[in-house]
Amino acid sequence: MRDSSIKHYQLFDALHHDSLLAMSFLNEICGRYPEAISFAPGRPLEDDFNHELLSQYLETYIDYLRRKLNYSEREIARVLFQYGKTSGIIQPLIARHLANDEGIIADPDDIVVTVGAQEAMLITLRVFCTSTRDVVLVPEPCYVGIVGAARLLDITIVPVKETHGTLEVKSVAEACESARKEGLNPVLLYLVPGYANPSGVCLSLEARLALLRYVSEHKLYILEDNPYGLFAREGSATVATLKSLDSEKRVIYVGSFSKTCFPGARIGYLYADQHVEGFAGGKRISDVFSSVKSMLTVNTPPIAQAVIGGMLLQSDCRLTTRNRRNIKRYSDNLLTLAKALHDNFSDASDLSREVNWNLPDGGFFTVVNVPFLANAAALERSAQRFGILWTPMQDFYLEKGGERSLRLSSSLLSGEEIQQGIKRFKEFVISEVALQQHQ
Ligand SMILES: Cc1ncc(COP(=O)(O)O)c(C=O)c1O
Repeated sequence: MRDSSIKHYQLFDALHHDSLLAMSFLNEICGRYPEAISFAPGRPLEDDFNHELLSQYLETYIDYLRRKLNYSEREIARVLFQYGKTSGIIQPLIARHLANDEGIIADPDDIVVTVGAQEAMLITLRVFCTSTRDVVLVPEPCYVGIVGAARLLDITIVPVKETHGTLEVKSVAEACESARKEGLNPVLLYLVPGYANPSGVCLSLEARLALLRYVSEHKLYILEDNPYGLFAREGSATVATLKSLDSEKRVIYVGSFSKTCFPGARIGYLYADQHVEGFAGGKRISDVFSSVKSMLTVNTPPIAQAVIGGMLLQSDCRLTTRNRRNIKRYSDNLLTLAKALHDNFSDASDLSREVNWNLPDGGFFTVVNVPFLANAAALERSAQRFGILWTPMQDFYLEKGGERSLRLSSSLLSGEEIQQGIKRFKEFVISEVALQQHQ
């Protein structure tokens, strides 16, 4: 019999990288232990997830088309059922949200609606990286979405270590200089300035201004990814977005409604106000983004846009107001988690001395350092024997790093689950330390 299987080496294998395979493993293990208390995924609260609301959101948007924009029934049907404009249909509502919630005054024509932030990142990388020498700088540890997108496009990623709970300009400058010495050309600096995934780091206003100054002087662009920016912890002030401070037009802003509305809609967007010369498709960088998008997904599904449009309209395009209850829950959960860790690891024992964690100013994620290898095998033991799931930090490093730390996401849990989960976590830590001593 002839072997008809395709050999792996015949296929594109940019995703054949440990950290990206680890994500499939994480999903798989979450599926195998549905009863476990899961600190693993960075998912938004589900309290408002009621399928009956979907038709209400849609009706709200249709009513807006009918009454506010004077669309005929025929036009409404066409908007929802037909192929649509590549740049999208809800940009004016997104612009209102940006003004209300992010202090960004945007021309709707500078916005392109995308299939999640993920597509927005892919488009930006494709547009800005034009030769094999062009590289993207990312903070390390780093969100896997940008790393995966770059690998899909064969774009080289240069990690810049987060230090002292921030991303220092000095580190960015050093990374740029050494890349240039190797003949590479840094073009983009990817940042999640508000409560980063996975580190929870929030860049101060000074750090943001310093990074803006650096990229202006050195002719780089910042790719600002801001899915958690509205989720400040109680008592912590929200910091201005880089885009709202961007007087030199150095920032490409990526938005996502995955955490502020719901991820099933798969709606994100790009906002960029740079102009381009000599492009046949238009004078705005958004025209270039649209031309790339037209060959990726043609247009973002109008039904999904209409649902998010309806949600925006129902809250007068104010997502901070819409998310008030959730923002409080995320904040309470971060504090409950920190207190549970403190209660379980604050005695004078060696174990407690070796377990430490951060308390981020907002967002979903807390990082815990532990005195053992927090890898896939440890996660399997944690799920099987203690019924808790978490994410190994090493998955967020390009090469080495994060081996003895793990990410806990508290966004989706109740206070009781967090407390119960951390009690189990302590048992797990004790057992791992014992295991290590026997090896
Ligand atoms: C840093 C970061 N960017 C973007 C996203 C959201 O991406 P999307 O809009 O594609 O769901 C996430 C979600 O986990 C994230 O952590």
